Amino acid sequence: MGENGIIIVGSGLAALTVAYYLQVQENVIVFTKKGKTDCNSWRAQGGVAAALAPDDDWRVHFHDTLTAGCHHNDVRMVELLVREGPKRLQEWMDAGMAFDADEHGQLCFGLEGGHSHRRILHAGGDQTGKEIVTFLLQQVKGRVSVVEGEQVIELLMEDGRCVGVKTKRKDGAVSVWRAAAVVLATGGCAGLYTFTSNAPTVTGDGIAMAYRAGAAVADMEFIQFHPTMLAVGGKAVGLVSEAVRGEGAVLETEDGRRLMDGVHPLRDLAPRDVVARAIAAETERGGRVYLNISAVPHFRRRFPTIAALCEAHGVDLEVGRLPVVPGAHFLMGGIMVNEWGQTTVPGLYAVGEVACTGVHGANRLASNSLLEAIVFGARVAHSINRREEWPTSVYRAARPFGRSRRLLVPPLPERSCIRERLSTFVGIVREKGRLCEAVRWFEQFSLPDWLDGDLECLSAEEIETGYMLLTGWLVASSALRRTESRGGHYRSDFPYDHPHWKGRRLVRTKEEWEH
Ligand code: SIN
Repeated sequence: MGENGIIIVGSGLAALTVAYYLQVQENVIVFTKKGKTDCNSWRAQGGVAAALAPDDDWRVHFHDTLTAGCHHNDVRMVELLVREGPKRLQEWMDAGMAFDADEHGQLCFGLEGGHSHRRILHAGGDQTGKEIVTFLLQQVKGRVSVVEGEQVIELLMEDGRCVGVKTKRKDGAVSVWRAAAVVLATGGCAGLYTFTSNAPTVTGDGIAMAYRAGAAVADMEFIQFHPTMLAVGGKAVGLVSEAVRGEGAVLETEDGRRLMDGVHPLRDLAPRDVVARAIAAETERGGRVYLNISAVPHFRRRFPTIAALCEAHGVDLEVGRLPVVPGAHFLMGGIMVNEWGQTTVPGLYAVGEVACTGVHGANRLASNSLLEAIVFGARVAHSINRREEWPTSVYRAARPFGRSRRLLVPPLPERSCIRERLSTFVGIVREKGRLCEAVRWFEQFSLPDWLDGDLECLSAEEIETGYMLLTGWLVASSALRRTESRGGHYRSDFPYDHPHWKGRRLVRTKEEWEH
């Protein structure tokens, strides 16, 4: 291999955007623990929000983002997001990315909750993520090696700097890779919940690895619950995009009462935290909630993925009522980064949902997640491109390397127990007693061993479960510490926002274990 190597962990939109903008023509390796399409981006239905319509303006998008985020956002980062987003998307369209357009070739803009303007670009109807990922995979083909089925299990640190990664394959083979820079693009952690829209691979590994390596993480208590997952047989079986409500669908109770009447002036298109809580309250009372789609024109054509999902689960579209429940969807917090995606650990970048740029505040505005991946993915690449000297290149290093304290296999719970704990005790509505219980539960699983031990002797699956514990504990303990309600974090014992917490990030580092 040549010089200037970069390792990217994850294969979703953020990862591929970094790869797309990197000027390095070789030596870029993308590691993904399963297949390259086993990521959240592949599933993204709604689209990408951008003020590209002639009568729209980035300032309005800026305002909507702050309102949805309950003004917990980093305003400087939000401005970068909404101003640079349209430029990046225009570049992609010029390079051949096709978003849905009408018969005159004019882009079709969808509407979603919290947006005061139609500004959601979509592709293939409701297959936006799939279309964009396919486009990017084609663009980076031949320049980037995508290694599937190899799990990054640890970040390698030397003198406080991240200098590479350790990987493990299904057959147990461990490799050590050194690189000039490591980019974490592993997604968030909503897969830690029982009802989730996320791919099963999204279990918080990146956050746990960064925290372990000493990076600061923030805002881990802010989890967004998507209001409408299709509910079949007591399970949440897939996402029903908010774009469906944007096209006229409404939420109603079993007896046909409009659920959002009197709850919020934007009714069915209110911010997600408000809608999710209204549905949760109705189901708590023993009721059921349905999405009435009878007013949506050409449902099958506009939403082919959702139509197929309904048909696969025996939900009759002709009846026009889809049973729905909320499910964990997005982490607003994550690994703290600056405007170039640099974490607090030199040599380590984070981008996409795994990163906390501060753009989403306490509650992400719909379709701003793909936009974040694009804007900050490009910024990470530009930051890497700007560097003149590289300390190392990507190469498989001689072993042994790294930590030495061997770790006996610590006790591990079933993954379903982790999901059940978080869903029940750190769900849509939280309260001190339950949060304390959740924190105690996580702490019984030898967390310090997970922080410091050499994980090499464990299987890839055991390591993933250990990282689920660490990340789950970060979510639960952060939720306990924030004694207010704001956006996606709602405490029934502190039901209002509090000036003490205004603009205050809950920053966590591994150092907290030393006190
Ligand atoms: C959706 O299509 O409702 C999800 C898109 C998003 O989370 O932004």
